Amino acid sequence: MNVTLRGRKQHFRTVSFDAEHNRVVLIDQKILPHTFSLAETEDFRQTALAIKDMTVRGAGAIGAAAAYGFAQGCRAFRGKSLERFEAHAQKVFDTLAGARPTAVDPVNAMKQVRNVMSQGETVQKKQDLALLAANLFAEEDVEHCQAIGRLGAELIHDGMTILTHCNAGWLAFVDVGTATAPFYEAQAQGKQFHVLCDETRPRSQGAILTAWELAQQGIPHHIIPDNAAGHLMQRGKIQMVITGADRVLAKTGEAANKIGTFTKAVLAKYHKIPFYIAIPLSTIDWEMKSGMDIPIEERNENEVLCAWGKLQNGKKTSAGSACVRVANPTSHALNPGFDVTPPELITGFITPKGIFKPKELAAKLKKFRA
Ligand code: MRU
Repeated sequence: MNVTLRGRKQHFRTVSFDAEHNRVVLIDQKILPHTFSLAETEDFRQTALAIKDMTVRGAGAIGAAAAYGFAQGCRAFRGKSLERFEAHAQKVFDTLAGARPTAVDPVNAMKQVRNVMSQGETVQKKQDLALLAANLFAEEDVEHCQAIGRLGAELIHDGMTILTHCNAGWLAFVDVGTATAPFYEAQAQGKQFHVLCDETRPRSQGAILTAWELAQQGIPHHIIPDNAAGHLMQRGKIQMVITGADRVLAKTGEAANKIGTFTKAVLAKYHKIPFYIAIPLSTIDWEMKSGMDIPIEERNENEVLCAWGKLQNGKKTSAGSACVRVANPTSHALNPGFDVTPPELITGFITPKGIFKPKELAAKLKKFRA
């Protein structure tokens, strides 16, 4: 999407690859919205760290970062032994897969790359195929998001106010985004609507990233406190909810997404407000049988106890660096990163292939399974 820097609009992708230097290039999301800058990783370990420390975050974006990181690691191998190459590739795969556990996209993306690589008969051929497949994953991610935008825009009508949670925008994907893609398409169609961004404590992806994205694209919006949605729904001020997801179980229709999504889905159901989840196919877990088995990332307690941002004197701090202690100094915090929304609270999944009810999802998408 476009970013205006020093008065000039420029197009950026959240994740890309510098093939000449074998580097993954990322928009550094730790320092947004106060600083826009690109970060480069020199090897797969650095790429895994960038996923872990959330320099890059969001299901599709960490999927693409993992695909490129896998290609990066495979391309760095020196030698001709296929056996040693396979052992090295497995180590790269495991390191990247372990960086963040809840989203399934990194594993799906790397499996896709590994499948294509298996057609190569030499190390060199496999290395070339790895990059080709990572590029294909990234392109497919963009195409899926564009299709979600076209389908999702049909749900948006003039005068609507739509709530979104966390950031499932273009920063969470290679480009365009999922939950925000219908907004961009509806805007292009000239529709008039308003977006509410849940602040999304503790990392505040809604206040920091979604609001920045929408501001860059000129979409009217407000940031609301995480606790305000119930009140606003009760007063008829929200007509629809669209979020993203980090893992959707094909077998059950359950969806893991940023902590607080489940609460919003319960509120939406109570107020009879449609609740949609927008996902590319890489977010589908075809194997897992129960949402209770989804690994929920437990994050650093400082995210809850502290605050980061820009001081009035212009000095900036970012997550992971020095912070302002907000909470009582002797208290500790629990910080689960995600929750699981059951299918009965989900009106539909907006996918690149259509909008489906949770129960229909597996049957409708079976033929697209990679
Ligand atoms: O912890 P994050 O920021 O990587 O979490 C991911 C998210 O932003 C949300 O859960 C999002 O709604 C789904 S990712 C497209």
